[in-house]
Amino acid sequence: MKTSSRAVWILFLLPAAALVRAENSVFPSVSVVPRPVAVKLLAGTFVLNGQTRIVAVDRESRKIAGLFNDFLLKQDGLHLRITVNRPKRENFILFSQVDSRALPEEGYRLVIGAKSIRIIGQPAGLFYGMQTLTQLLPLGLQPTIELPGLDITDYPRFGYRGVLLDVGRHFFSVTYLKKLLDLAAQYKINRFHWHLTDDEGWRIEIKKYPRLTDVSSYPKDPTTAHGSLALGDEAPHGEYYTQEQIKDIVAYAQARFITVVPEIEMPGHSGAAVTAYPQLACTHSALGNVLCPKEETFTFLQNVLSEVAALFPGRYVHIGGDEVQKDSWRQSAETQAIMKREGLKDEDQLQSYFVRRIERFLTTKGKLTIGWDEILEGGLAPNAIVMSWRGEGGGIEAARQKHKVIMTPSDYCYFDYNQGDPQREPASIGGFIPLEKAYGYDPIPKELQGKERDYVLGAQANVWTEYIATPEYLEYMLFPRLLAFSEAVWSPIEGNDYDDFRRRLPYQFARLDKQDVHYRIPEPDGLKDFYTTTDDHARVELSSLVPAARIYYTLDGSQPTDNSSRYQSPLQIPLQPEQKTTLNLVVIAPGGRRSVVYGATFQRRSYRDAIRFDAKQPGLTFALYEGKFTSAQSIELGTPAVRGITSSFDLQQFSRVFDYGISFDGYLTVQSDDFYEFAVESDDGSVLEIDDEVVVDNDGIHGSRVVTGHIPLRQGVHKFKLRYFQSQGGATLRVNWAGSGGELQPLVGFALYH
Ligand code: ACM
Repeated sequence: MKTSSRAVWILFLLPAAALVRAENSVFPSVSVVPRPVAVKLLAGTFVLNGQTRIVAVDRESRKIAGLFNDFLLKQDGLHLRITVNRPKRENFILFSQVDSRALPEEGYRLVIGAKSIRIIGQPAGLFYGMQTLTQLLPLGLQPTIELPGLDITDYPRFGYRGVLLDVGRHFFSVTYLKKLLDLAAQYKINRFHWHLTDDEGWRIEIKKYPRLTDVSSYPKDPTTAHGSLALGDEAPHGEYYTQEQIKDIVAYAQARFITVVPEIEMPGHSGAAVTAYPQLACTHSALGNVLCPKEETFTFLQNVLSEVAALFPGRYVHIGGDEVQKDSWRQSAETQAIMKREGLKDEDQLQSYFVRRIERFLTTKGKLTIGWDEILEGGLAPNAIVMSWRGEGGGIEAARQKHKVIMTPSDYCYFDYNQGDPQREPASIGGFIPLEKAYGYDPIPKELQGKERDYVLGAQANVWTEYIATPEYLEYMLFPRLLAFSEAVWSPIEGNDYDDFRRRLPYQFARLDKQDVHYRIPEPDGLKDFYTTTDDHARVELSSLVPAARIYYTLDGSQPTDNSSRYQSPLQIPLQPEQKTTLNLVVIAPGGRRSVVYGATFQRRSYRDAIRFDAKQPGLTFALYEGKFTSAQSIELGTPAVRGITSSFDLQQFSRVFDYGISFDGYLTVQSDDFYEFAVESDDGSVLEIDDEVVVDNDGIHGSRVVTGHIPLRQGVHKFKLRYFQSQGGATLRVNWAGSGGELQPLVGFALYH
């Protein structure tokens, strides 16, 4: 396994002239996340020791200097004197707002010279400069610290860099939220979207309506309760935040330049409110989580929002607006009468009416209203900000209507989705956002042009907690994806480079370990899911991005433990003909935390002989079946609605939206004896067979997902069969293939016959 060498991480970002001293350096100089706008290496070294003074002239600077000192004490065992006067001698760290006006908002300049370290910025910039400086410090207690000369200019790409935590589904204690805010601030996140109410719980004390928390803040399953009760630092009541605790969190966040955005869900996702005050639901409504749009409800909401507005000094209040089950309004005579009175022609207009009234009220409180993209339906309230979660479409539409937008499309920003193979990951809500995908997100959609782009305020990473009951699991889902996200919202897009980000990760993992963060320990580099070969052995070379991690493995299908073989050098795995061998491994971080069990399957096998087939009509035959399928394997039980010939897998040609299945049958020619890789991406399931053998099993109801398989084929013709089905939601089907060593490319007509 590769050992981690900080010098190596530095090399990639520095100009050639800097290499010599970088190589000798022990500093993780530019392992900073998010990547700063500009970093220049300077001659000389600054020596930080017990005599170093912090100079902070004004009150804001002194507060930030104080946070820096706290950090230094915790991480490096140093505590420095803070003075208001610049010492005559050298050896000081200056925090100053002087000459900071020319810097972009939240920007800073950090100059590490031989005699001093200077951080220049407005207060937020000083704070971020301080965060960058802390990332340049080595880990562990040290009496003196040498820092390389650097000149960093830095500022954010977006002004809104958010993270959402859903405390409705599971509660997280005040003590824990402070840890989370510290971590978010380290990565220059500046908005905390606090999802405080939902069907499962109401988490904010409202003095006027005590039943909200008396009735609706208790965990349904007390065995999953944690946080306040477990930590013992809060009162033994239901799981909610008192107004004093809210103020405490708001102040804690504010000191870290994070604005708290409270969310009070309405008119849907309001089950907790309705349980506490059943009169808020429409009479005769079977669906109990939607508020009735009557005057009594508006009075209730205005009273709640008055208390909320007073507690949160930030400008934003989020009012939800997503996933309203409008049937409850359709079934309610009371609601239909209100619609008639207000001249509203459908339930979309009713929702729009609802949001407009609330927005008008919040405006009187000096607040800006944010809502999920459903608030577009029926017409946007005049100044509402749209949070685009069902893809980017809502955000694009809102920007075109000249409304501000925060991007949080579920395919990129829902960090409750899986990061790896769902078979190996802990139980989750589904989805798939591996680290590289999170890194690659650009909050500005290509569809927006010119001034339209200015309406995108930024983006937000969301953690919904249906499946996430503990801080450990929350951290597993957030880290390291939050680091990737921070780069997407802070760093200039031109410099985005996933490989470079990966090179900076080892130092970040070491820091997170030090801070007791239960980040996801990634699968080792060099590990594939599946290895197929005609050889009598396979070679596997592994390394981990986690510094000094150990890897233990088994080859007999058993679960690896600390007593299993330890990976030391590339494995030569012996393979028996026509038998599968399983590699299971676990990666253990220096602190003892373990990854999930990762693994691979190896197969030694002989070639599939070509078959005799002479007729060569281009294209495949297809058969389209209608029905509610749950598996591609079962679509052919009925009678096809349509049959035909096609030369592509493009689903558009079938003019269907939901509930159908297609089987493609024919023959495939390959030009040489080789190992062929097939990669099938599908939403929902698919199964690919070659010569009646399942090569790719991507079956089941799921979102877009790629599964690959390998098969050795002799030159010539082979039987080809692909089955696919679509239930509800997005539809995708793509088939790529490659010979050994080749790049995957679309499987197109030239190789397919019937
Ligand atoms: C949401 O995920 N329903 C906003």
